[in-house]
Amino acid sequence: MRIDIITVLPELLESPFSHSIMKRAREKGLLEVYTHNLRDTTPYKQAQVDDYQFGGGAGMVMMAEPLAIAIELLQKDRNYDEIIYMTPDGPLFDQKTANTLSLKENIMIICGHYKGIDERIRDHFITKEISIGDYVLSGGELAAAVVVDAIGRLLPGVLSDETSALFDSFQDGLLAPPVYTRPADFRGWPVPEVLLCGDPKKIDAWRHEQSLKRTEERRPGLMKED
Ligand code: ADE
Repeated sequence: MRIDIITVLPELLESPFSHSIMKRAREKGLLEVYTHNLRDTTPYKQAQVDDYQFGGGAGMVMMAEPLAIAIELLQKDRNYDEIIYMTPDGPLFDQKTANTLSLKENIMIICGHYKGIDERIRDHFITKEISIGDYVLSGGELAAAVVVDAIGRLLPGVLSDETSALFDSFQDGLLAPPVYTRPADFRGWPVPEVLLCGDPKKIDAWRHEQSLKRTEERRPGLMKED
C-alpha cells in the first residue's frame, strides 16, 4: 500500500513511521509513506498557503489553489482509491474504517491547519473525511499518523504473528481480554489460575467471557453497533 500525505509540517510525520511496526512495514516494502510539503508547490509568493476567510472572522483558511495543485500533481502519477481530509467535523475513525482502508492500494491524506481548508476542495477533490475524536488538534498531522498506524499494522505480513491483529480490541466488536505475563505471582497478586491450566479450550472460553464482561462494563454501546 502507498500513502501520500499533503502537509505544511512534514517534520511532524517523520518519527511516527520510523520506529517499531511502521518502520518494519516500510522496510519490508509492505507500506510506502511519502509526505509532500504544500509550500513546495504553492504558486503564491513567499510560499503562502493560507488566507483570510471571506465574510470575516478570526483564523486563516488553507487556500484552494495550492491544495488543488498538490493533489493534481500526485494524481498525474497514480489513481487514488481515497483522498482523505483529516478534520474534526468528519465521521469518527474506528476499526471498521481501518479494516476497509487497509484493503486499498493508494491513499492520499490531506492535513488541515488553521480554520480548515477551502470548502471547494472538500466538494470537488475529497472522497472521505475522518475525525479521530471529538476534540480539536492544532493540525491534521497527528490524526493522519494515527490513521496510517491503524491501517499499516493490518497489512498482511506486517505483524510478526499475523493472527494477532485478529484478536485486537474491536475486531469482533468486543474489547480485548486482560493479559498477564511472568511472574505468576507479583507482590501476592496472582495471575488467574485458568491461564496456567494448559487447556486451550478453557483458556479461550475464559478470554471470551472476560471480553464480554469488559465490553459490557466499559463500552456497552459497542455490542449494539453492527
Ligand atoms: N484536525 C484537527 N483535529 C482533528 C481531529 N480530531 N481529527 C482529525 N483531524 C483533525
